Amino acid sequence: MDRKEFIKTCGFACLGGTTLAVLLESCAGTNYLAQTSYANNQITIPKTEFIRIAKDKTIQRKYVLVRHDKFSYPICVYKLDEENYSALLMQCTHKGCELQAQGDFLICPCHGSEFTNQGVVQNPPAEQDLQTFKISTDNENIYIYL
Ligand code: FES
Repeated sequence: MDRKEFIKTCGFACLGGTTLAVLLESCAGTNYLAQTSYANNQITIPKTEFIRIAKDKTIQRKYVLVRHDKFSYPICVYKLDEENYSALLMQCTHKGCELQAQGDFLICPCHGSEFTNQGVVQNPPAEQDLQTFKISTDNENIYIYL
């Protein structure tokens, strides 16, 4: 193997390794089902559920999913900033398909509607915003009122 071929091979190997690391990291961080408790018609989520520890670094989750028997669809809870959160029922307002959270947006796999992390419709065919839930917080927890 000559020098040029060696450098080319190393470059492709490095690029492949970086791409794989990015893919694995992005997969590990998606659709985390939060540990919750339920009482008095409210769901409690510890704020620590938004923290993921991978090896020696701490990663903040943008959102977590919550399941409750009262709904056939999960609730997506977004961390908007340190103090503000949103809770959205993941049911498309067009024809009721289950939405998929992708970063700061919720996408409908059925016909392509798109919603913001606060439930506002961005792309049709859906015309109505998502069902949202009232939220409050304290130092440790997030409370979702059903
Ligand atoms: S059901 Fe979601 S866009 Fe049609």
